[in-house]
Parts: sequence; structure tokens; C-alpha cells
Amino acid sequence: MNNNLGNVDAPNHVTGKSIYVDDIPVVQGTLYIKVFDSPVAHGIIKSIDFSKAEQLPGVVKIFSHKDVPGENQIGGIIPDEPLLADHEVHFQGQPILLIVAETEEAAEEATKHITIEIEPLPIIVNPREAFAKGNLLSPSRKFVKGNVADAFKQCKIYFEGQTESGGQEHLYLETQGAYALPLEGDCVKIYSSTQGPTAVQRTVARVLGVGMHRVEVDVTRLGGGFGGKEDQASGWAAMAAMVAYILKQPAKCIPHRMDDMRMTGKRNPYSSDYKIGLDEQYNIIAYEATYYQNGGAAADLSPAILERTLFHATNSYSIPPVKVIAHSCKTNVPPNTAFRGFGGPQGMFVIESAIDHAAKQLGVDAAIIQQKNLMDNGDEFPYGQIVTECEAKKCWDEAATKYELEKIKKEISAFNSCNSWLKKGFSLMPVCFGISFTNTMMNQARALVHVYTDGTVGVSTGAVEMGQGVNTKMMQVAAKNLGISIDNIKLETTNTTRVANTSPSAASATADLNCKAVEDACAQIMQRLRLMVSEIKELGDNIVVTIEDSAIFVDGVQSDLNWLTLVQQAFVRRINLSAKGHYATPLINFDKIKEKGHPFAYHVYGTALTMVTVDCIRGTYEIDSVQVVHDFGTSMNRPVDLGQVEGGIVQGIGWMTMEEVVYNASGKLLSNALSTYKIPDIYSVPKTLDVHFLNTDNNSLAILKSKAVGEPPLMYGIGAYFAIRNAVLAFNPGSTIKYEAPITPEKVLMGLYAK
Ligand code: MTE
Ligand code: HPA
Ligand code: MOS
Repeated sequence: MNNNLGNVDAPNHVTGKSIYVDDIPVVQGTLYIKVFDSPVAHGIIKSIDFSKAEQLPGVVKIFSHKDVPGENQIGGIIPDEPLLADHEVHFQGQPILLIVAETEEAAEEATKHITIEIEPLPIIVNPREAFAKGNLLSPSRKFVKGNVADAFKQCKIYFEGQTESGGQEHLYLETQGAYALPLEGDCVKIYSSTQGPTAVQRTVARVLGVGMHRVEVDVTRLGGGFGGKEDQASGWAAMAAMVAYILKQPAKCIPHRMDDMRMTGKRNPYSSDYKIGLDEQYNIIAYEATYYQNGGAAADLSPAILERTLFHATNSYSIPPVKVIAHSCKTNVPPNTAFRGFGGPQGMFVIESAIDHAAKQLGVDAAIIQQKNLMDNGDEFPYGQIVTECEAKKCWDEAATKYELEKIKKEISAFNSCNSWLKKGFSLMPVCFGISFTNTMMNQARALVHVYTDGTVGVSTGAVEMGQGVNTKMMQVAAKNLGISIDNIKLETTNTTRVANTSPSAASATADLNCKAVEDACAQIMQRLRLMVSEIKELGDNIVVTIEDSAIFVDGVQSDLNWLTLVQQAFVRRINLSAKGHYATPLINFDKIKEKGHPFAYHVYGTALTMVTVDCIRGTYEIDSVQVVHDFGTSMNRPVDLGQVEGGIVQGIGWMTMEEVVYNASGKLLSNALSTYKIPDIYSVPKTLDVHFLNTDNNSLAILKSKAVGEPPLMYGIGAYFAIRNAVLAFNPGSTIKYEAPITPEKVLMGLYAK
């Protein structure tokens, strides 16, 4: 296998040939939908008048919740979110009406002729305030290992504090959107920009009040999802589908960037309390944390995200007694949702803050405490899984030696002692991330493989390509298993009628699950072909047939058959050249009553070393370098995997340093455009970004031992927070700077001069 292949889609992306939802040629009669959304964050709708708007030229109809044919409900885990608000609104940006017009402009114009009267209700944007009032989205969760209270009683050295981590806008290049076409027999087909085609199918069926068999969802690819389209694509699809279904005309619903930013949920902000206890040798002997998750106005995926925060509460560390509690708090902001890391990064920020706090108080580098407590094989995670195939120490040690940690420390202190207005800081950030959906049931996938009579192959799965390269990986796996070139393989769109009941493409598990289903389908076809060869050659059933570069080898000896003749012979003999593969991750389980089990197929490890320079007059900073040792297993596609690590790091740095989601006290999003919401650009990325492939060869459940890579690297970005903080403290050792991310230049400047 060519593990330097890269992403086969890349040439089409950069030449503008790739098709996204808004590029699909529109069918005659297509209508355009504009959402009229709530101007206030909480209140009772007293009256609404859209009679004038409906009379405007080009306006076809205006839909309210009363027009929903089925259930006015899009909540994925908990049914707590109406598609269109009925009597009460819970966040600014909540959809109330759908304006359907012949053109986008006409729909836009109509929004200006709608009058609405809303009686205001109290607005809560802070999760702790919501918690105090008992406003929870789902039951609180608690993971306990050992007896924390006893451990703290015996412990002389302990530290307590509070942390805040902010939200994050997904900023996928392609906004949310869907294009729905009415089909005969009260059916609809929806082209949706979704990570979860089945979630869209289920939600649309519910909203229309029809069976799922009447709803077909098709996805070619996404211009990015990052978790924002795991659940939140469903609402837009339901709007388009409802209009197409009722008016029997095609309908498109694609929000503009600012509408998308205002109306969709983001990464869950967290406010947390921690308490960490150590002994004199810097062993962590107890850890306790409480997380207040800002869930927004509806549950969405927040209950599952909350759970993953607990799974990653101790990051890469082995801590004997642990008690962590998480609350999902209901506030009046758009429902927050999945975002790369899925609650894991939020949990890791808290333990890293706790360790940093302890280190500062004890007068040592945090790295001393971090290294001392790295986990190892045989340790037990707080959720009961035993650590195996652990690479935590290997990654740390290799990062420290390869990137010359001791030398860097000396260079930084030399730099800092001879520079008054520039200060450097560094940090190490180990990461341990569990691979599998934490909901065991979701760890299944299917694939449909057709071999055509000319020897070419079509592959359909439940995987959604969103830039992460899963399609390329599936082509590689099909090519390897059939012994043919990837040029003979076509990756089909993801379509619910070809592959059903799929899990969303998420949890970094898409390649593992779907590639293994492809393997299964290919193996079935190969088995049939093998038996046919034994018949043709009049050999026994036990022959081994392998295909390499389309040449057929029988028991290791090249035969006169090739792939094409084999396929044609099979067709003549009426052998099935199609197969449906299935994969369900073995071994995993989790008991939600006991909060114990073995939820993850395996873990991904790594360590990042980050260096920064802070300008102590301006409060600005540069990321000098991020140097990483990352556990790829045995990468099946190094350029794709490297891209995932680089992209994840930059996205993580953005979350931790500059991306600041701001709602004011009345629940209005102030950071509602790219002028006020800053994401990393070419000037703010690390000057050096070095990724070392730690090749490991464990018998893990990763596809071809090539480990999942989508989310884990994001958490290296947490290192940038601590490196910047350390530089601030080098300038002002008495700074009262808090554990609050993002550490924007504004916060840095205040920290530099805070007494
Ligand atoms: N990479 C790109 N280019 N675009 C994306 O939307 N999403 C991330 C990650 N990398 C994303 C991405 C997230 S949140 C996840 S869960 C994984 O990819 C999903 O894909 P995988 O399971 O194939 O890794
Ligand atoms: N990760 C990502 N997405 C998910 C998960 C998970 O563990 N569970 C449900 N959706
Ligand atoms: Mo990723 S947050 O699991 O879509």
C-alpha cells in the first residue's frame, strides 16, 4: 500500500471542481427558504404578523410551527427542541418562521415586513447561574475511582481553583445547508451537508410524520464539519424537506455565514472547579473536579459531550483516587454541540490547569509533575478500563529527547534574563484520547461493494467525507483487499438507501468502522472468487488465491488468470459480484449505572512541546514552535494523517488563544462575523510545526494498525495556553492571571500588569 498517497480529492478541491450542496445544479421551480429567527433570547411570543410579508412579490408561503405535518421536534438525544418555535423562544437565533420565495432576495426582503411581539423572560447565559436555578438539560454524571475524601484527608499538599474555557465557532468553509426534492409517492430526497445522514433521515421522517423509508438522504462531501454537522445539520434539512414535501417543489435552505454563526451552536464553554492533592515526590494522590457545561437552550449532543469530558478528566495521567462530576446546564444561547474532541479538550484543560497551579505553588516546572504521573500499562482509568498498549511515556520521552527539552529550558531562561520586553514560555502537553463512540451501540458500520463486469468497483458506506480523507482511506482498503489499483475504484456518495442505519461520521472512528466494513465486503467477494478459481483449476477448496496488481496468484504461483478474466468468468458462472460488509467493534462495553466498563477500542497518545514569545508592551504573542511526537500506529496515509495533526493543532491553538465567542447579558452573539471572531490565519500559525511519527505496531483495533487521527491532535493546542501563560509569568511573576481560555492578547496584556 502506498502510504504516501495523499488525499485523492485534493486536485479537485484546489481547482474548484468538487461539488458541495450549493453547487448542485438547481432543478426548475426551486424555491428558496429564509429563516426568520428570534430577536430575543428568552420570551413568550405574544403575537406575530406576517400577512404583509406573504403578499410581497416572489413570496410563495410563510410556514410556522402550525404547518409542521408531523412532530415539531428535532432533538436528537432528548426531545426538547422544536424545529420552529411555538409559544416560547429560548435563544436569539431560534427559528420561528420559514419564508419561502422564488428568489433568495425576495425571501430576504420579506423578513423586514414581519412584526413580532415577545414578552421578555429572564435570560441566563452563565452555566453556574443556570445550575444554581436547577436548570439542567440532562441528569448529572459522576465517575468515581477509589476514595477521594480519604485521600485528601491524608494529603498535606493540595490546591483548589476554578477554570473557564470558551466556546468555539466551527467555521466550516461550507455553511450548513440542504436541498430537498419532492419524489413521487409522498417521498423526499435531500442533499444535505451533514455528518449524520441517518440522523437527518430520522429527523426529517419525524417532522414530516412519515416512515424513514420515504426519506432519502444523499451526501457527496462536506466543506468541513468539525462536529458542527453531527446533529445540527438536521434542522436545515427538515426545513427544506418540509417545504418540498408540502409545496411539491424543490426547496433549498442554506444560511449565509452570519446567519449560520448566529443561529447554530458551538463548542460547549465550561466553567469548572478542581482540587488536586500531591505528595512530596510530586505524585498526584487525589483529583476532584466539577464541570459546569454550558449546554445552551436544548440538549442536542451535550449529554454525550458531558460524558466524554469525564472520560478524559485525567488526560494521560494515572491518579489513584478520582472523583469527577459533570452538570449539563441549560442557558439561553443556541444549543451547543459537538466540536473536535467532543468534551475531551474541556476536561483536559482543567487537569492541566490543576497541575500547572500545583507546579507554580511548589516552584517546579509543570513538566516535572506531568512526567512523574504519566500512565502506564496496567493502570486503571477512572471508568474502569485497564491501560494497555500505552504509549504515553514513549511519546513524552521521545519528545523530550528529540526536541532537546533541557537545552530549550536553558535557552529560554537565558533569553528571558537578557530581554526585558520580550519573554518566552514553553509547555509540554501530553494527550491520551479514547477511540470509539462512548455509546457502544454506535460502533457499527456497513459497506456495499459492487464489482462491475469490466473489473471496476463501486464502494458505498456510511462514511461522510469532510476533508479528513476517509474516502481515500476506504479506496486504499478496497484496493488492497481486491488486489487492484485505486484507479479502478469509485467512492460513491453516502446515501441512506444504499447503506442504512449509519452512525454519524464522528468520534474519529469513521475510518476504522467503515474501512473494516469495506474489508468484510471485499473478503466475501474474494472468498467467492477463490472457490471459483479452485473449481476452474480443479484444485481443492484449500487453495490460497491472492491478487496483486490485478494478477492472480494460486498458492503463491502466478496463474494465467487476471482480475478482468476472473470477474468475467464469475459473471458467466452467475456468481454474486456484490457484497454487503458489516463491522461492529469487538470487546467494548460500558455500564452507565456503574459508570464502569471498557468503552474504547484503543487510545491514541502523543506529546507536544510548544514555545512562544510574548511582546510585553503590547500583549501580543507568536507561537514560535509546536513540536510533536504523535502515535499514528502504522499510518496508512502519511500526508492525510499529517494534515489532520497540523489542522488539529492550529484549530486547538485557535480555541485556546484567540477564538472568543462572546454573548452579552441579553444573549446576543457579539462575535457574529469574521471581523469580531478571530481565527488563526497564516500569520498566527506556529512558525515551526514539526510532527514526528511514532510508529507503533500494537495489535490494536485500528484499521491496518493505522490509528484514528481526527480529533486527538486538537488537544495539543492546549499547550499554547500554558506556554503563553508561562511567558506572562516570566515578565510578572506575581501576576494574578486566571485559568481562563482563550488567552487573548487582551488577557495577556492585563496579566502582564496585574498585581
Ligand atoms: N478534518 C477536516 N478536514 N474537516 C473536518 O470537518 N472533522 C474532525 C476531524 N478532522 C474534520 C476533520 C472531527 S470533529 C472528527 S470527529 C473527525 O475528523 C471525523 O473523521 P474521522 O472519524 O474519519 O477521523
Ligand atoms: N464522539 C463523537 N460524537 C459522538 C460520540 C462520541 O463519543 N457519541 C455520540 N456522538
Ligand atoms: Mo467529531 S466532534 O466527533 O464530529
